[in-house]
Amino acid sequence: MDNTVVKLISNAKEIESLAIFSIEKSTSLDDLEQIRVINLGKSGSITTILKKIATISSESKNAFGKELNIIKNNIKAALDTKKIMLEQQHEQNILAKQTLDITLPGVNPAHGTYHPVSMVIEDLKQIFASYGFSSVTGSEIEDDFHNFTALNISPLHPARDMHDTFYFSADRLLRTHTSPAQIHTMQAEHPPLRMISLGKVYRCDSDPTHSPMFHQLEGLVVSENANFLEMKALLDDFFKSFFEKDVAIRFRPSYFPFTEPSAEVDIKMPGSDNWLEVMGCGMVHPNVFKHVGIDSAKYTGYAFGVGIDRLAMLKYGIDDLRSFFENDIDFLKQF
Ligand code: PHE
Repeated sequence: MDNTVVKLISNAKEIESLAIFSIEKSTSLDDLEQIRVINLGKSGSITTILKKIATISSESKNAFGKELNIIKNNIKAALDTKKIMLEQQHEQNILAKQTLDITLPGVNPAHGTYHPVSMVIEDLKQIFASYGFSSVTGSEIEDDFHNFTALNISPLHPARDMHDTFYFSADRLLRTHTSPAQIHTMQAEHPPLRMISLGKVYRCDSDPTHSPMFHQLEGLVVSENANFLEMKALLDDFFKSFFEKDVAIRFRPSYFPFTEPSAEVDIKMPGSDNWLEVMGCGMVHPNVFKHVGIDSAKYTGYAFGVGIDRLAMLKYGIDDLRSFFENDIDFLKQF
């Protein structure tokens, strides 16, 4: 090996020990990167010496290359070890800062509220329970007999047109009112009966005041002396309880196949001049009793039906029925 080569190698070894010393002393990843660039970068000190290989005699080339590669790898290894150490330290520092303060107040989850229709349903059940009425929801899928025929709506009765029925088949349908649940009860139980049936009903209809699915409540009283006056007193008390106001009511003659006589009930809020139509009612038609095997010579009955959504609209001052079913969280949050 000629002299220049020996000198170059010892020069490189000096640089190596200096580099390893500063690597050990370094305290940041930035420092480390700087040391790498100074020594091993494109124009770093070791790289510069390595480039001299071109000027070296062929007998010394091999030994020179070998030595310098060892030096280069030593620096590289020192850099890598230190890098892992510094990274671990950095992570530990972050963790140390992230202590959990269990005395801090928590974040409360947002609370849901009852849907206005559900609140009205609960109110209605409670009011009618206080009058001694039992409550059923019945089935939303019904047959023709319970939804129509037993209610004195024979197959060719024009009232069927008003119900805009969703049919599954000629005999299977989505109930158009909650009356069929009352037919089931009258078939299964003996008078006296005081009941409400309530829940979802379906009609093929949709506009600001009609939805294809809506909620209905129907009341039924069957006893040996059920009469129109008793019904009127009951409904008068009901509307006052429900609206918690001195609501006035009036009856207008009307027609339903399942009641005779029948009436439409209007209400007027205190301070208002408008009568609002809210309910249908009447004395149970003898044909209905015949279909369920109740002796109409012994028993009389009265029935009434009301749209629950309509009651909720009036109670909360909402004018588009569809807003109940759009599930807009901002709308629902108000209740
Ligand atoms: N079932 C009737 C309807 O949905 C409502 C009603 C019930 C009317 C009882 C009068 C008596 O149209």
